Amino acid sequence: YLNYRVPRTRRDIFQTLIKGLQRLEYRGYDSAGVAVDGSGKDHAASISLYKKTGKVKALDEEIYKNNAIDFEAELDTHFGIAHTRWATHGEPSPVNSHPHRSDKNNEFVVIHNGIITNYKELRKYLVSKGYEFESETDTEVIPKLIKYLYDNRENEYVSFSTLVERVIKQLEGAFALVFKSIHFPGEAVATRSVRAMVSLKLAIIEHTNKVIYLEDDDVAVVMEGKLYVHRIKRKAGEDPVRVIQTLQMELQQIMKGNFKAFMQKEIFEQPESVVNTMRGRICFDSNTVILGGLSDHLKEIKRCRRLILIGCGTSYHAGVATRQILEELTELPVMVELASDFLDRITPVFRDDVCFFISQSGETADTLMALRYCKQRGALTVGVTNTVGSSICRETDCGVHINAGPEVGVASTKAYTSQFVSLIMFALMMSEDRLSMQQRRLEIINGLKKLPELIKEVLALDDQIKSIADELYHQRSLLVMGRGYNYATCLEGALKIKEITYMHSEGIMAGELKHGPLALIDKHMPVIMIIMRDACYKKCHNALQQITARQGRPIILCCQDDPEISKMAYKTIELPQTVDCLQGILSVIPLQLISFHLAVLRGYDVDYPRNLAKSVTVE
Ligand code: F6R
Repeated sequence: YLNYRVPRTRRDIFQTLIKGLQRLEYRGYDSAGVAVDGSGKDHAASISLYKKTGKVKALDEEIYKNNAIDFEAELDTHFGIAHTRWATHGEPSPVNSHPHRSDKNNEFVVIHNGIITNYKELRKYLVSKGYEFESETDTEVIPKLIKYLYDNRENEYVSFSTLVERVIKQLEGAFALVFKSIHFPGEAVATRSVRAMVSLKLAIIEHTNKVIYLEDDDVAVVMEGKLYVHRIKRKAGEDPVRVIQTLQMELQQIMKGNFKAFMQKEIFEQPESVVNTMRGRICFDSNTVILGGLSDHLKEIKRCRRLILIGCGTSYHAGVATRQILEELTELPVMVELASDFLDRITPVFRDDVCFFISQSGETADTLMALRYCKQRGALTVGVTNTVGSSICRETDCGVHINAGPEVGVASTKAYTSQFVSLIMFALMMSEDRLSMQQRRLEIINGLKKLPELIKEVLALDDQIKSIADELYHQRSLLVMGRGYNYATCLEGALKIKEITYMHSEGIMAGELKHGPLALIDKHMPVIMIIMRDACYKKCHNALQQITARQGRPIILCCQDDPEISKMAYKTIELPQTVDCLQGILSVIPLQLISFHLAVLRGYDVDYPRNLAKSVTVE
């Protein structure tokens, strides 16, 4: 918190930090903490430190309970640090929360994002030197270690940043760190290694739209209101200059408006977000598609041996959803991989592979690790992200920004449909010079043009979908079944349902029905089926018969005017029809809406599902 020249009260500083944390609450929120300079009027050599489990609001209340603090004191050193934690090592508790401290006097306090893999050895060493640990975290070794180095500096003057550099030499793992100390009031030092520092702009956008992205091994020092950045070890030819970048984000983009939850707002934004994804990229007059971020590499991509789409969760589903059309239009083998499993298998990757890393946040650790793995093996790497300047964005050779706008709800919705559209556009770009495919391309491009209107039609079904949720919300389980182009919708719908409603839900490939899942069917098991008029229609119809023959009462997502299907359904949700490979964009929306309504009816906080974080930066 830098604005050094303007006098600030301690209350201002706390409020700025707390508000920033509240904006980040959606991504990791089992506990929170804050540290600012001083406590009373004489604030020179002390740090006030507060930590609390639960929501940031609880932390805010905790701070103001303390009568000993002079909140109106104007401070000339205004540097505070704050953190929300999502537990990895150690349960959520105040001692396990950040900032972590070196000792009871808070001589050094530290915030850490990432993992220290050699913390056990460091802890053992520091314990042998008499340091007492209060938490179960890996992070706590860092403040203890810096204090140890400070206490043993032997008459030498050591700057704060030199101390930090000495600390990180001892650390193994991945980290972004911010330090404060009573020995260096008004100063702070930040550094990173394999972890992004500014990945979440929402916390700061109210105060500034200017950011500097630190690279690995950069050290940033704030002293007397000025910011200095240097490299720990500069490699030959490396540019030490870090450019100030401007964030393109308006505050109202991240406000809930009249919606009950961010997730609901983001579902209803989809008619515009898909337009933003296509803007300036599709020329509907000439039927051409240009993804500027890939143009320079297009020749190389066209020569590749296969495409590999890699992601986690919803982003993985976007790969599943578009695989078939990619295979059809590129005539290349396409693999779709969960990043974690791809790494577990030590999957063979070659120089002539093109690997796509699909990630809304651009920071997901599994996906980032898979990216580094593929890069090492010489493959061309392509990012498909929603976050400009994110790690995946910066480390890939080229990429596509999906431009869906900030997604705050933990359950991903508009990012999915924009990833879907981005991958379709890539398939169209790859097939531009294939004469035999022009008819198909034209059909898809026309479909994309009409897509925003059709999405609006689907959203208009919200009341009907809510009434279905009214019937289902007390159920324990919900199966979602389909095949072909709509199989990804089943996986994605089931993921939405489980993550925010905590109901058991499974996306089932209808072709697999008789190989096991059919045993689950009886008149009590709620089933949603997706049966659209495409090449799988007949086969889906067969699956439907098998279900009704076992007294199943399916709710069916089908095309408008399909009496054949309607008469066998318990209920139908009729969707407008589009091109087969785009239908999944429409069919997923009723499932996004149903999961939202189910979560509200079950009394859960839609934007803050338990145990989940928006940006999963640990493997
Ligand atoms: C589900 C969801 C997660 C993410 C996954 C990957 O609604 O949000 O499954 O899709 O954690 O995150 P990104 O796309 O940021 O890499």
